[in-house]
Amino acid sequence: MFCGINRVVMRNNRKIMIAGNWKEHLNVSQASHFMHRLEESIPIRQSVETVIIPNVLILQPISVNLDRRKFRLGAQDGYFVDAGAYTGEVSMAMLQDLVHYVLVGHSERRYVFNEGDDVVAKKMQAAIRNGIMPILCIGETLQERLARETKQILHNQLTAGLMNLTSREVAASVIAYEPVWAIGTGEFAKPDQVQEAINYIRKQVESLFGKRTASLVRILYGGSVDDLNAKSFLELSGCDGALIGGASLNQYKFAAIIEVAYRVQQERLGR
Ligand code: 13P
Repeated sequence: MFCGINRVVMRNNRKIMIAGNWKEHLNVSQASHFMHRLEESIPIRQSVETVIIPNVLILQPISVNLDRRKFRLGAQDGYFVDAGAYTGEVSMAMLQDLVHYVLVGHSERRYVFNEGDDVVAKKMQAAIRNGIMPILCIGETLQERLARETKQILHNQLTAGLMNLTSREVAASVIAYEPVWAIGTGEFAKPDQVQEAINYIRKQVESLFGKRTASLVRILYGGSVDDLNAKSFLELSGCDGALIGGASLNQYKFAAIIEVAYRVQQERLGR
């Protein structure tokens, strides 16, 4: 177990995170070639936390030769019951030695696999129970945005996802704002829309868990982030990184985004 929760809570400044969600792409040998190329393209940047989130088959082989100065691993999903008669499932308990992070509530899980807020809440608790830091994904559909329901949706998904967690556990978690209409569409959100959502999410965390927790929890943006638009999101106040799909499968784009994050972080640190 990584005991990552203690490590993050003790750190007051929020480290920028660039996470690449490979979704259902790359088999084991393709992934190992791609990882090799990524390692060549990406220098060690200690102020940026780079997380690779491949499919579950790839986690074990990749972990063997992973350059841990550059990368951490995350899982795309994990089941909330630690062990039992659940054909096809891989539990958080099984993932705990392999990953630091796990995505919970990704919109593809919510809308393609019909995972409701009750399942999301159980997965959040299972991740924490097994020492894995959850990345809780929340965001509105286009229909909900057009109906001006964005804040209500964020509020509902956030409160359901964080239900039954302690302030300390929330502080160690990561929240990704991923508007569904911006995922895989090339139609990224405008920076002011992202700023508004991030401010709102942090305020909600503050009202539920207090100021200190709100100042510790990391909030990312995800949705058609690439090397050309990354800076406009990473520069936003309170934006602690990005969750990237398509562009994380291109070594040059992904490396360029990490460099942008590094420069933004250096500026924040006043270097
Ligand atoms: P894209 O970057 O391909 O839009 O995907 C975003 C995403 O879903 C990351 O989890």
